[in-house]
Amino acid sequence: MNDPSHKLLADITAVGMYVPPRVLSNFDLEKMIDTSDEWIRTRTGIRERHIVSKGQATSDMAAKAVEELLKNRGITADEIDLIIVGTVTPDMLFPSTAALVQDKIGAGKAWGFDVSAGCSGFLFSLQTGAQFIESGRYQKVVVVGADTMSSIVDYTDRNTCVLFGDGAGAVLLEPSENGYGIIDSALKIDGSGGKFLHMKAGGSLMPASHDTVDRKLHYIYQDGKSVFKFAVKGMADISYEVARRNNLTGDMIRLFIPHQANKRIIDAATRRLKLDDARVLINIDKYANTTAATIPIGIYEAYRDGKLNQGDDILIAAFGAGFTWGAIYIKWGLAARA
Ligand code: UT7
Repeated sequence: MNDPSHKLLADITAVGMYVPPRVLSNFDLEKMIDTSDEWIRTRTGIRERHIVSKGQATSDMAAKAVEELLKNRGITADEIDLIIVGTVTPDMLFPSTAALVQDKIGAGKAWGFDVSAGCSGFLFSLQTGAQFIESGRYQKVVVVGADTMSSIVDYTDRNTCVLFGDGAGAVLLEPSENGYGIIDSALKIDGSGGKFLHMKAGGSLMPASHDTVDRKLHYIYQDGKSVFKFAVKGMADISYEVARRNNLTGDMIRLFIPHQANKRIIDAATRRLKLDDARVLINIDKYANTTAATIPIGIYEAYRDGKLNQGDDILIAAFGAGFTWGAIYIKWGLAARA
């Protein structure tokens, strides 16, 4: 639906992604811990995940995703105004991953910052980036979701280590006046959920020490069952809310691109939206949960595979640590890839 008021919208005009080449399959994990390919597949939908090699960090993957995006758009890094990186696995506590990416790609005039919102990191970053475009202040905003989950996963803990992978995805936002772009969003945070999913040490509350290392406090802690319960309701409800208030029925949504934490959580949201499975992007089998990267990687693959056409209505949604959750409605603006 074109906006008659010619409101400035933030449109996605290029996409990029990167996953490291090394693959860790369920069968590899069978050799490391007491698990099975069957358990992992049926409980989560995951078959394999990509893992960085030694020395490779979040900013390296993010920079590669942004470089691909620039190539696809045919522009150079010095045209970028702003870089926003959603991540919970920055290379280091400071400087920000955005600063490291800015330097790696040589974005001479850009400023930037990181957004910490767990698995909703890309949604929060995208909505933040969109405000800078809608205000008319900036012309080219790069939004990245990138996480090196292998850096905070305990590969002796079968409850968590099977769930996560590494990767990065990026989109370019530019102003549009033709009705294409980010139309609506609903974003939420509820810190009372923090106790179910967090990393205990390494921050100001419990700085790193021999003791914190010995007690394995620098790894992901997750109460999977509780998070699952909140995620099923949270992601389904907010997706439904954004769809309903934009009069989007299941048959109008061209593609639903949800966070990829567990296929069963995605199925619950799909049912709530009354969507056919063909309208839901699933790639958890290949990448597992890459936290802030799942959605931009999903957008990238959908576009690459010709699943997105100009004018399509798409819905993206996530739930994650915080708790944080949200959904964003996008009128897709790029012409389908030939
Ligand atoms: O993206 C950030 C947000 N995170 C999420 O959305 C994750 C939400 N949670 C989940 O996806 C699921 O809760 C999990 C996949 C983490 C776990 O699935 P579940 O169906 O809730 O399993 P469970 O935790 O209830 O465990 C069932 C059994 C347990 O054994 P007992 O106690 O019944 O004997 C676990 O010890 O499965 C066992 N188990 C495993 N068995 C084989 C747990 N992990 C494994 C494993 N392999 N990797």
